[in-house]
This record gives sequence, structure tokens and C-alpha cells, in this order.
Amino acid sequence: MTEIRNIVILTGAGISAESGIDTFRGAGGLWENHRVEDVATPEAFARDPALVQRFYDIRRAAIQEKLPNAAHMALAGLDARWKGDLLIVTQNVDDLHERAGASRVLHMHGEHLKAWCTSCDVRSHWRAPLADRPPCPVCGARTLRPDVVWFGEMPYRMDAIYAALRDADLFVSIGTSGAVYPAAGFVRDARELGTRTLELNLERSQGSHWFEESRLGPASEIVPAWVEEILM
Ligand code: OAD
Repeated sequence: MTEIRNIVILTGAGISAESGIDTFRGAGGLWENHRVEDVATPEAFARDPALVQRFYDIRRAAIQEKLPNAAHMALAGLDARWKGDLLIVTQNVDDLHERAGASRVLHMHGEHLKAWCTSCDVRSHWRAPLADRPPCPVCGARTLRPDVVWFGEMPYRMDAIYAALRDADLFVSIGTSGAVYPAAGFVRDARELGTRTLELNLERSQGSHWFEESRLGPASEIVPAWVEEILM
């Protein structure tokens, strides 16, 4: 078996579930009570910007009340100690990986705590509401939107993600249902490259059969256990 040097970790809403942030799919998930087309598309924003802004304002405020859990902490510990390349590609728009102390984090679906000005194209750190149309701190235009990737938009930094996948010896997927592409396809890309694959999830995800190994359970338990094992 080849030695593991470079690791790509994909995280999804399941890693933040035990911090009290709703997942998207399944019972009680965000998409059970909201239609994606009403709140998470460019068309929805063009049609009713105030409604979309309020939807994200509520979530931006909520995540600031939450704390990282043992799974985020374990990955931050791995990030601090892992000598090889490591990239935590997260689909999550919360900042719990960073608040746990991880630095090698890439937000492929954007970040709740950033606002993107569509006039000057600058992204600014942002904690306050956007529904009252505050001015962009850079150009003053009242054209800020959440810096979150909506359905129909291209996820961020795909080149960097695929470059990391090409160099990886191990791909690990944590707390994601495997329902949304391109992230859902990373496991197949990894398999084609001959990379080892591991899934850590509460239940089998949609693409579970693509993984060489699946470990099932709450992230707060199975992620620290795996990190301890790989650091041995
Ligand atoms: P989902 O809600 O689709 O899936 C969450 C996964 O986490 C499910 O497979 C759950 O079984 C699992 N899970 C729940 N609690 C868990 C726990 N305590 N420990 C471990 N696993 C747990 O969320 P994502 O896969 O992240 O995109 O969704 C992907 C994308 O769809 C999101 O980034 C978002 C959404 O629409 C955009 O908004 C662009």
C-alpha cells in the first residue's frame, strides 16, 4: 500500500449538524421548508431580492451563534499536524472550520460572512444584514449580495480543487449526501486517478458505492477517531 502524503477532504452540512446548523436534505432539512427556486437561484434574486436577502440574513446571523464541534476541531488538529498537502474543500458556507483553527480550507460554495458587490466585484467581510441594502464599503453602490453560490452558478476555485485531487493519495468525504455536483463527482474522479477513498457519514450517501470504505456514525465521533488513526 502506498504511503499517504496528500489528502483532500470534502465536507458538507453533516459536519455542522451537531453544531446546530440545519442540513439541506431529509427530515427537518432546509430544503424541506423552502423551495430552492425561491431563495437560492440568480432568478429568485432578480425577482425578489428582499426575500432572498432576508433568507440569508437569518442564516448569517444564526451561524454566528454556533460553535465548532469535535469533528471541526479534529480536522483543525489534522491541518496543524499533517506534514503533507492537505485541503479541506467545504461545501458549507459557515465558518466553523476556520473557527476551529483550520487554515487549509476552500469554500467551494462561498461564505455567509462575505458580501459580494456586483458593481465593483469586490468581496468584503460581512456580518450584518443585507436586506436594508447597505452600501458597498469599497465603491458605495447598494449592490451587495450574499457571497454564496446559488444553483445555476459555478462553484468557486474548481481548478485548485482538481489540482489537489490529482495530487491526492487519499480522498475523504464527510457529512455530505452526494446529491449536488460537481462535489458529488469528486469520488469518481479520485477513483479514476487511483486515489484511495473513504466516506464518513451518518448514513450511506447517494454515491456511497463509489467509496472503497464507508464508516457510518455521527461526525463528532467518527471524524476524531479517523484523525487519531491517520496521525498514528
Ligand atoms: P445535505 O443536507 O444534502 O446532506 C447532509 C448529509 O450529512 C446527509 O447525508 C446526512 O446523512 C449527513 N449527516 C447528518 N447529520 C450528520 C452527522 N451528525 N454526522 C455525519 N453526517 C451527518 O448537505 P450537503 O451534502 O452538504 O449547496 O449539500 C450539498 C449542497 O446542497 C450544499 O452545499 C448546498 C445544498 O443545496 C448550495 O446551496 C449551492
